[in-house]
This record gives sequence, structure tokens and C-alpha cells, in this order.
Amino acid sequence: FTGVVHIPVVVHVVYSTEAQNISDAQVQSQIAVLNRDYRATNPDVAHVPPVFAPLVADSRVEFHLATSDPDGNPTTGITRTSTTTASFPQDGNPIKFTAHGGHDAWPSDRYLNIWVSTIHSSQGGLLGYAQFPGGPAETDGVVIADTAFGDTGTAAAPFDLGRTATHEVGHWLNLFHIWGDDGTGCAGSDEVDDTPNQASENYGTPAFPHVSCSNGPNGDLFMDYMDYTDDAAMFMFTHGQAARMAATLEGARASFLD
Ligand code: ARG
Ligand code: ZN
Ligand code: CA
Repeated sequence: FTGVVHIPVVVHVVYSTEAQNISDAQVQSQIAVLNRDYRATNPDVAHVPPVFAPLVADSRVEFHLATSDPDGNPTTGITRTSTTTASFPQDGNPIKFTAHGGHDAWPSDRYLNIWVSTIHSSQGGLLGYAQFPGGPAETDGVVIADTAFGDTGTAAAPFDLGRTATHEVGHWLNLFHIWGDDGTGCAGSDEVDDTPNQASENYGTPAFPHVSCSNGPNGDLFMDYMDYTDDAAMFMFTHGQAARMAATLEGARASFLD
């Protein structure tokens, strides 16, 4: 595609406590983060080490809260659902179904669905998870913990800069984790050519360089959104990742092209 793709977003706030019923301002702060990060206008892109700066890409995707609902009526692009579920398991995706205490998806060929609540996996708490392109429409979209959503309100450090949604929407546009999801080995790939081969995920705020898989002297691209570092330590997508997302928007998610 040429120019910029505009993605209508619906945020389904599902709350069992008043604190979880996050403000419109917190929702809007997340949309603003997505727009900065996907256009590479985030100020912290200046922290990319100079050797990696040529890799920084404008992904040419913008997001806005939907202004019309699936029936064509005006909407804020935010749904609010009171539930008795204190924490939603990833398994089975109950948050994505009104009948299971959550909220049904809006048509996933026209909206990016984002559900926000307390969520967990079998391993414990969870910041977020996504469905890759090609899956069932009823469960398509991303789920983000209310305490990791946006950069104001209940967002809590070190995941309080909105980067969980940046990461999960990357998956929604078919990006894989930058280390290739093969544990600590060097055989796994993210199927992107310009990201250095990397052994495993990084956490926290790593010091540059972090070398693995013979990727010295510059090492891992741990400041990429598709690693697992803290929100303050991730601030870029690469040209290769932007191309992979563009291919998705010309392929499996072409219904979003203007
Ligand atoms: N799926 C990952 C998790 O839940 C998301 C990691 C997001 N990282 C971040 N810095 N916000 O662990
Ligand atoms: Zn991930
Ligand atoms: Ca790679």
C-alpha cells in the first residue's frame, strides 16, 4: 500500500472493580501511543543506539477509536461491560464472549478489537496476548491487562508506557517474537531479514550491547517492540518488520485498506 493505513479500533473495557473501569483518557492515551510507535514519532526513538538507527522504520499504520458501530450508529469506540469475573484466563478466551462474562467481538474485518481487563495464563499473570491473522473472527484481536494499558490512570510501572499493546498489535499484524521463539537456541527465526539473529528474550532494561548467537559486535536488537524488555526500554520496529506488517495489510488483513 502507499501512504498510511487507518485502523478503526474498538476497546472493550470489561471490569469487576471500579478501578478496572478505566477512564476514556486512559483509553485515548493508548491510541496515542500506538500512533506514535507505528509512525516512529515516539520521542524515545532517539535512544536507539546509533548503529541500529538505520533500521528504524515508520510502519505507516494509524489507529483511531471507531466512530460508527457495527450497525452504523455513532459510537465512542469504547464498550463498557460489568462482569463478575475477577481475572480472565487466556485459555478459551471467555473475555471475547458476552455469554462468558466478556464482550463479543465487533466484525474483525472492519475493527481491531482490544479487550482490557485482568487476564492470566496457566503460568500466572499476563500483560497481553494476541491472535495472529487467519484465525476465527470471533476471537480476533488483542487482549491487554488494564494495568498495562495506555500511559496514564491505572497503568503501572514498568509496563506503563503502552508498549504491551504496541507489541500485541505487532502480533496481530503477523510479527513474531524477535528471538524466533525457539527457547535459548539460535535456530529460530522471526522471518525478518534485518533483525539480528537472537538467542532468547530480554527482560528489564538491558545494557547495550547484549551479544548472543554470534551477533556481535552490536548484538541483540533488544530495544525492538517484539522483545520482552520493559516499556521504557523498547522503542522501534525495523524496515523488515514494517514490510512484514504491510504484507499482512495487503493480504490477510486487506479489508482494512482504504
Ligand atoms: N505477551 C507478553 C507478556 O504478556 C507481552 C510483553 C509486553 N512487553 C512489554 N514491555 N509491555 O508477557
Ligand atoms: Zn508476544
Ligand atoms: Ca531475524
